[in-house]
Amino acid sequence: MITLTKTARLRGELTVPGDKSISHRSVMFGSIAKGVTEITGFLQGADCLSTIGCFSAMGVEIRNSGEQVTVQGRGLRGLRQPGHVLDCGNSGTTTRLISGILSGQNFPVTLTGDASIRKRPMKRIMEPLQMMGAEITSIQGNGCAPLRIQGRPLQGIHYQSPVASAQVKSAVLLAGLYAEGETKVTEPALSRNHTELMLRYFGAEVDSQETTASIRPAEELYGQKIHVPGDISSAAYFIAAGLLVPDAELLIRNVGINPTRDGILKVCQMMGANITLLNEDHSSAEPVADILVRSSGLKGCVIEGPLIPTLIDELPVIACLACFAQGETIIRDAAELKIKESNRIQVMAENLTAMGADVTETEDGMVIRGGRPLHGASIHCHMDHRIAMSFAIAALAAEGETVIQDSECVNISYPGFYEELGRVVEN
Ligand code: S3P
Repeated sequence: MITLTKTARLRGELTVPGDKSISHRSVMFGSIAKGVTEITGFLQGADCLSTIGCFSAMGVEIRNSGEQVTVQGRGLRGLRQPGHVLDCGNSGTTTRLISGILSGQNFPVTLTGDASIRKRPMKRIMEPLQMMGAEITSIQGNGCAPLRIQGRPLQGIHYQSPVASAQVKSAVLLAGLYAEGETKVTEPALSRNHTELMLRYFGAEVDSQETTASIRPAEELYGQKIHVPGDISSAAYFIAAGLLVPDAELLIRNVGINPTRDGILKVCQMMGANITLLNEDHSSAEPVADILVRSSGLKGCVIEGPLIPTLIDELPVIACLACFAQGETIIRDAAELKIKESNRIQVMAENLTAMGADVTETEDGMVIRGGRPLHGASIHCHMDHRIAMSFAIAALAAEGETVIQDSECVNISYPGFYEELGRVVEN
């Protein structure tokens, strides 16, 4: 539990922890590559540590000094059958991506995770992997983990995914490394493309055309040096804080600004925010920049369509921003929010209402009528890290005290979040 109050002034420079999606992939691809992969900037959050745990259990030697993660890759066919059930913790990325890799192995594995993971839909990966020839079953028969996977010889498919999900796309592409012939995934809108970029960086034959990604089976991947950029999903909380607090200027260094992830910047622009990108550069196949944020008056906007997958994890904090904007903000086409670490439509609407916001839940998003002052409240995060951090930011601009219950769940993606926030607050 943590208590936060209204803040008048924010100043400072910070670097946010490494990108969660890129950190997971660096260990996964490093594990199935030949040779050593050296990773700096790896996110030491619980989710990415779950990925390290799973691959260590399959015989991969992974040294994590905190500063650097070194993976002694075992090659595409070098993983060993684990001696126990693999625990993916709270991590959907671990569960879904590893399922693609395990579909191509020649041993059986059982995967599970925490109470939240055991409720999240896995049929979305089971179906395409089964189409490729994998044997993958939900042990309880409810389409959720625990999953039992028995690798089999796989055939390439062209999968028309009903959802824009990088986890689904990546699971299929990773199975495609082991399949006969080409594997393609077409999505309704482009989801984050870190898998495509990094697999290519490791030597795989990957092609991307609009919303279709394709991969050819690989002989081997080759270990690389990876510098993981700061996570724009973590930077989003400081961007929002910098915009909402009346006298604020924050410089967030070395943030990944991949165009499949930068929807938050586009929304901020639509809302009239004062944000500048500096020092644009590239780091291990990913674009990066420093982000300078200053206090801004905001106006409401409509967030929909292909923009949604590029900011899906930022919608909770965007909903908080919308409460302080003039006019209405409409979020639609975002039904995926209901199946994240919590039902983020319901949990956001519930907690924002508790703070006095005017918000209506819809089937695929929410409508927020901004400009009503918010007041502190007791926030129930449902163990969802992004809910906790979003309300920590709303608290900085609300009257009175906000108490965040289960506040420690931020460790999933941002260990040290409250300390970093405390560091930039100047009372
Ligand atoms: C992720 C993809 C997204 C995102 C999640 C991380 C990834 O999930 O919400 O936090 O690393 O591939 P979906 O693929 O379910 O959209």
